[in-house]
Amino acid sequence: MTARAARLAVVGLMTAGLATAVVTLAGTAPARAQPKPGAPAPAAPAAPTEGCAACHLETGDDRLVNPVKAYAGDIHRAKGFGCVACHGGDAKETGMEAMDPTKGYIGKPARHQVVQVCGRCHSDARFMKQYNPSLRVDQVAEYATSVHGRRLREANDPNVATCASCHHAHEIKPPSDPASTVHPLRVAQTCGACHGDAKYMAGYKIPTDQLAKYVTSIHWKTMSVKGDLSAPTCNDCHGNHGAAPPGISWVGNVCGQCHTVMAEMFAKSIHARVFREMGTPGCATCHENHGIQEASDELLGLGPKAACTACHAAEDKGGKSASEMRALIDRLGAEWDKARTYLTRAEHAGMEVSQAQFELNGAREALVKSRAAVHAFTVQAVRKEAEAGLAISEKAYARGVRALEELGFRRKGLAVSAVIIVALIAALVLKIREVDRKIVESSPPKEGRNG
Ligand code: HEC
Ligand code: HEC
Ligand code: HEC
Ligand code: HEC
Ligand code: HEC
Ligand code: HEC
Ligand code: HEC
Ligand code: HEC
Ligand code: HEC
Repeated sequence: MTARAARLAVVGLMTAGLATAVVTLAGTAPARAQPKPGAPAPAAPAAPTEGCAACHLETGDDRLVNPVKAYAGDIHRAKGFGCVACHGGDAKETGMEAMDPTKGYIGKPARHQVVQVCGRCHSDARFMKQYNPSLRVDQVAEYATSVHGRRLREANDPNVATCASCHHAHEIKPPSDPASTVHPLRVAQTCGACHGDAKYMAGYKIPTDQLAKYVTSIHWKTMSVKGDLSAPTCNDCHGNHGAAPPGISWVGNVCGQCHTVMAEMFAKSIHARVFREMGTPGCATCHENHGIQEASDELLGLGPKAACTACHAAEDKGGKSASEMRALIDRLGAEWDKARTYLTRAEHAGMEVSQAQFELNGAREALVKSRAAVHAFTVQAVRKEAEAGLAISEKAYARGVRALEELGFRRKGLAVSAVIIVALIAALVLKIREVDRKIVESSPPKEGRNG
């Protein structure tokens, strides 16, 4: 750390009114790795050399040794901070007096202290800007709005998550690092460590099945199998630090952040109103929230897997509409498939149908659109998309049929020409033989030329 950085930090701390609690950051840099002003922080300093770490390693006590070992891979270590950045004390002392409360030593921070310890730097925009201007500095403020933060503040709840529960205390890494506890592929496990533990959560009236269900979901599969990190994990729906992600007033509305088309249609639909009156959640009524499965046409209509039968019967208006929507989508699916089959057959036979195949993609898109249009919950909306797709499918099908007819015609033509060619060759052969014979008959008997 530079002298300027340290000064700024101290000023920042004083303005934050926290100076009493702590530690001058000037003492936090490793004694020997002092960079020149303006120089970047050391990227990967050697093993901690300060007194705290050395003595802790010597004790052989896991509780004292493990933090030192873990800290070797911590981002704060990489940025040049030592133990005193969080614990206070005097890093230059090698005896027990290093842990001197008059030098700001606070020992192991209590739960409610952790937020202050981390927030000391992370809420200080001026200080953090020297390291990473794009890093947010609202974690403490956001955390205060979460159930975790509220319960810690209001009830001094000893079980809720603090900064160190989700980030750990000594192996903190940026979310982009695959080894970080908050990397997208690891978040579910991090939250699940508490939320999936029925014993730990026994005092609360909430389910503990979120992790178990989430790992069966299409979202987790998309993320873990396809490696598509745009699918959501716990914090995408619940917020990293706050009660909900930014711009979302209630976690039930979070789906629309990504599935915008469905959400817009649903918001204008009759269900949006009646579900609110019934006190039923929006999307989750039909899709669940943690165990979301791949949607299929089976979810629509009155069949055994349909979501509609929970509230509608075959004879009510909603039930009838459900069947009609399903019939339209089934028909489009079948017509598209038929057209595709014909075009593929023609293509394999060597006919030129690439234009028709290209156009048929429009029917595939219409199928996707009509499945989305289900969320308007009117037959009309589905019909509009389905009919467009049906028209394309019919045209493509007609082209396929024509191509196969042309192929038949050409094959017939080919057969006829083949017969003619064979006849011509036969006639030619006969003619040649006849000419040969004539030549043999008219020429004189051969004499030996050299004789
Ligand atoms: C001479 C050896 C020695 C040095 C130097 C030393 N420690 Fe310790 N530290 C110990 C021992 C022994 C304990 C366990 C004693 C106890 O539990 O009170 C301990 C305990 C701790 C604890 C846990 C306290 C708790 O409340 O559970 C923290 C945190 C800690 N040290 C941080 C530091 C920091 C930061 C420094 C450097 C400024 C440091 N130590 C320097 C030996 C040392
Ligand atoms: C980024 C802040 C931070 C830094 C840097 C840091 N610690 Fe800690 N440390 C914590 C927090 C927070 C806790 C409390 C963890 C908890 O409540 O689970 C803790 C706990 C501890 C404990 C108590 C462990 C226990 O299980 O009781 C020891 C010992 C300790 N730290 C030593 C160190 C040493 C030695 C270093 C330097 C190598 C260090 N810490 C660097 C934040 C930090
Ligand atoms: C002494 C000041 C200081 C303290 C105390 C501190 N941090 Fe940091 N932290 C930083 C700095 C500086 C960075 C590096 C930012 C960068 O360059 O990206 C950082 C980086 C991080 C990152 C990675 C951010 C990213 O995406 O790059 C996380 C996560 C983090 N800290 C969490 C914590 C937690 C949790 C605590 C408390 C246990 C804590 N920090 C305590 C200064 C501090
Ligand atoms: C309930 C778990 C949880 C708690 C509690 C928590 N964090 Fe985080 N934090 C996360 C997750 C998850 C991310 C990753 C966000 C992402 O993917 O961008 C994150 C990211 C960060 C980052 C990187 C920058 C950013 O905002 O995305 C910093 C810095 C950070 N946290 C600091 C803190 C501090 C300080 C506290 C305590 C006030 C805290 N966190 C409490 C889960 C938590
Ligand atoms: C250290 C354990 C712990 C960790 C880690 C943890 N939580 Fe919690 N969480 C709790 C406890 C305890 C409650 C309080 C339960 C209550 O009040 O109903 C809670 C409450 C919640 C609630 C509010 C539940 C409700 O409706 O009352 C949500 C949502 C939540 N956590 C999500 C998360 C997410 C997302 C993560 C990970 C990014 C996470 N938690 C990590 C312990 C934890
Ligand atoms: C696709 C979005 C999404 C993802 C991913 C997600 N949740 Fe939820 N979660 C929700 C919704 C929606 C609710 C219901 C909120 C309500 O009804 O008020 C909820 C409710 C909760 C609750 C309150 C208790 C309950 O079960 O109703 C907890 C705790 C919770 N989630 C934790 C988690 C954890 C832990 C993960 C990761 C393993 C996770 N969630 C992943 C959307 C999500
Ligand atoms: C952070 C973005 C994001 C959020 C938030 C989100 N999803 Fe998804 N969802 C995806 C991605 C990515 C996929 C997988 C690829 C795809 O089908 O687009 C997916 C897939 C799905 C599927 C399967 C689609 C199919 O093709 O069969 C359903 C159903 C679904 N999500 C419903 C929901 C519901 C309900 C919520 C809210 C509780 C939600 N999603 C929240 C991004 C998100
Ligand atoms: C009343 C029940 C119901 C509600 C409420 C509902 N959906 Fe659906 N959703 C369905 C049905 C049925 C399908 C399957 C349509 C099909 O494949 O024929 C579906 C399909 C989907 C798909 C996959 C579409 C595809 O391309 O295959 C996604 C994504 C989706 N829904 C997201 C949402 C979101 C986001 C919300 C909330 C805004 C929501 N749904 C609300 C019934 C519902
Ligand atoms: C949680 C209960 C619930 C579920 C599940 C549900 N609906 Fe509804 N739906 C209602 C209620 C309540 C109404 C308004 C009263 C009515 O007309 O029956 C309604 C109305 C409708 C309407 C308008 C009927 C009219 O009067 O014009 C349609 C269309 C509809 N639903 C289709 C569906 C489809 C399709 C599904 C399955 C994908 C479905 N609903 C699932 C409760 C539900």
